[in-house]
Amino acid sequence: MKILIFGASGLVGGNMLKFFSQKEDMEVVGTHFSFETKETVPFNTLDLEASTNFDVASFNPDIIINCGALTWVDYCEENIDESYQKTVVSTINTLKIAKKLHAKYLYIGTDYVFDGKKGPYTEDAEVHPLNVYARHKLEAENLVFKHNKEALSLRITNVYGNEIRNKNFVSRLFNLAQSGEHHHLKLPYDQYATPVNAMDIAKAAYLLLKDKKTGIYNIASTDFVNRMQLAQLVLNSVPNHKVTTEPISTNELNPPANRPLMGGLISAKFLAEYPEFKFANVSEFLSEKMK
Ligand SMILES: NC(=O)c1ccc[n+]([C@@H]2O[C@H](COP(=O)([O-])OP(=O)(O)OC[C@H]3O[C@@H](n4cnc5c(N)ncnc54)[C@H](OP(=O)(O)O)[C@@H]3O)[C@@H](O)[C@H]2O)c1
Repeated sequence: MKILIFGASGLVGGNMLKFFSQKEDMEVVGTHFSFETKETVPFNTLDLEASTNFDVASFNPDIIINCGALTWVDYCEENIDESYQKTVVSTINTLKIAKKLHAKYLYIGTDYVFDGKKGPYTEDAEVHPLNVYARHKLEAENLVFKHNKEALSLRITNVYGNEIRNKNFVSRLFNLAQSGEHHHLKLPYDQYATPVNAMDIAKAAYLLLKDKKTGIYNIASTDFVNRMQLAQLVLNSVPNHKVTTEPISTNELNPPANRPLMGGLISAKFLAEYPEFKFANVSEFLSEKMK
């Protein structure tokens, strides 16, 4: 089976690329947009005719996975057009490619489609996005299913894991703690989510794709924590760190983009179909890192 991953220079796409590359029955190519890596090839999803684009038609993938989006939530709030281009237009363009090549399409969705009044959420809960990023992610997901009834969307939240740029909260905090430097962080105590390891998303995607599943699946661990609790999990794993934390409300932090507070996802649907699947938790990931 041939797989093409758009956005493989990022956290989720990078882990997908790593996982699928190890499978003997898979041939996989991952693309970057602006951040070149040793493992990826260039592809500008906003200019399908760019001469530097990887030749997707010749590769002729059976499956296209779209991990590309503008994921910086507060930046999206103030750069609406750029967010629309990099999240919605890039999805429209990659859907066109999938249609032309008769490839299965996998989209990556988010719990930010919900308003955070009653999380964690199941797949069929009513959507109500609170910010620009979330509205664009929902618009793109709706377009996916409008144009491709056989598509798959994995909704995820609060992803952590190994990545080249180490941008995710857990990895950044872990590095900060390990640096031995003094830092004082104000963290929201009222934003809850269900953190998930990016490698588990790749493993779940593999199972769902092999079984030709369609529709929306939540992919989330059973950890349900707020940012302060998540930070404590990380800091507890690093002896003698010099990082102090202070709980603060999201209201006081006053970020440019509104956040769903009681967010998170319930993966009961996925686990009912794959009862053997075991989601990693943050502590396991950190103890691996400590080795
Ligand atoms: N991380 C989370 O907690 C989280 C939660 C919910 C949902 N998601 C979703 O999961 C997906 C992957 O997120 P991530 O955390 O892996 O984000 P990330 O690390 O920021 O990676 C985003 C990827 O998208 C690429 N990209 C940006 N604009 C693009 C475009 N126009 N065309 C093609 N690729 C483009 C980036 O390429 P360059 O870096 O090369 O420019 C990068 O490879 C996104 O759809 C995101 O909305 C993530």
